[in-house]
Amino acid sequence: MPSDAKLTIDGKTYSLPIVEGTEGERALDITSLRSETGLTALDPAYGNTASCTSGITVIGGDRGILRYRGIPLEEFADKPNFVEVAWLLIFGKLPNSSEYQQFSQRLTNHANLDEDMKHHFMGFPRSAPPMAILSAMISTLSCFHPQLLELHTSDEIEAAAARLISKIRTLAAYTYRHSHGLPYIYPDPSLPYTSNFLHMMFSEPYKRYESSEEVRRALNLVLILHADHEQNCSTSTVRMVGSSRANLFASCAAGVSALWGPLHGGANVKVIEMLEAIHQGNQSADEFINLSKDKSSGIRLMGFGHRIYKNFDPRAMMLRKVCDEMLDTLGIHDPLLDIAKRLEDIALNDEYFVSRKLYPNVDFYSGIILRAIGIPTNMFTVLFAIGRLPGWIAHWHEQNSDPNMRISRPRQIYTGNPKSPYIDVRDRT
Ligand code: ACO
Repeated sequence: MPSDAKLTIDGKTYSLPIVEGTEGERALDITSLRSETGLTALDPAYGNTASCTSGITVIGGDRGILRYRGIPLEEFADKPNFVEVAWLLIFGKLPNSSEYQQFSQRLTNHANLDEDMKHHFMGFPRSAPPMAILSAMISTLSCFHPQLLELHTSDEIEAAAARLISKIRTLAAYTYRHSHGLPYIYPDPSLPYTSNFLHMMFSEPYKRYESSEEVRRALNLVLILHADHEQNCSTSTVRMVGSSRANLFASCAAGVSALWGPLHGGANVKVIEMLEAIHQGNQSADEFINLSKDKSSGIRLMGFGHRIYKNFDPRAMMLRKVCDEMLDTLGIHDPLLDIAKRLEDIALNDEYFVSRKLYPNVDFYSGIILRAIGIPTNMFTVLFAIGRLPGWIAHWHEQNSDPNMRISRPRQIYTGNPKSPYIDVRDRT
């Protein structure tokens, strides 16, 4: 295999090193392209740009592979434990039992919010979008933990990670309680991660919510399947913001904002809205598929397609299985699941979707699971954020541990006006 590539510009030939990743993926190293040739690379939406090297997650888009720190996602299916996966992503290996105990204890110790933070919730209208509240409140955490704004040691990273990972579920639950005018339920230190979240969401001061084993298993798996996905839009945002040496809270708050968009984390909400519209009889599944193929309609089959996966998304397959199992065990018949399967069936046999390699993505079935658990649709993307947080922290940590880290600053090709004079307002047409 050649270790460099030749690029000829205006008759002069330059040599560009070829770098190779662990899984054989190859890239041209263009870091010296501009200094040597005077040219930059134009790649809108970064479809061909590796923004960094990373050792956290690998995706084999053509083979449907997703591994966290080398471990295939499927390995977590039998005994899903989100806390363990969070530690794995951030620190690079599965925690031994004392590391696990310490991290779990830290999560337990820091589940509660400063009482003053509750006043901030009161300032939001009940109808406020939950992702807006979440982003604001994660940023607000930086005001309450000034000792964690600069992180140097591994212990300080763990302390900050534990606070964020623990408190995001309290923030999420309080966001829900606030929007429904319900009293806040304090975390219960006797409960593990997901049970405690469900307790804060659904218990009442006079009636305790007891989650079932099946629900806890499904929720753990949903969070794990969302935990990292290499340089996606929100993770790249976290890295971009973090590259200015912004603190972890500020960087993750920016990640929440990026995740909010309907082409990213917000797609799980759009999937349910699409399924509900079909269920209410606005369109049949076949009519909807036809509309989604017509570009002038502005409609896409939500939960389908992915920038990287061009064969299948392993997360979607695992979620479809757990969705079936959970609904079966709980005795729930959700007509939206029937519609989703019908849409999938039509799309996977339709030339438009097949030729463009469009398959169900992680958002296609996750919403049906969350609905069955009782999570309202407008909270789905918040659940995605809880799951994705360990990935954001891992990437922020990896980037900040690199002694060669520089501020991220892409270039552009300017296509605006040529140099123009200032015209006095009286002379403007
Ligand atoms: N429905 C109908 N057509 C689609 C869809 C879809 N869901 N997705 C892509 N296409 C078509 C495009 O119109 C385009 O057609 P063309 O080649 O004839 O112009 C072709 O497939 C390629 O699509 P792009 O938009 O270029 O693909 P890109 O990689 O930029 O976008 C994305 C990927 C955003 C996920 C896209 O497939 C999409 O919008 N899907 C629906 C939204 C969604 O589910 N988002 C969640 C993604 S997963 C995540 O973020 C957690």
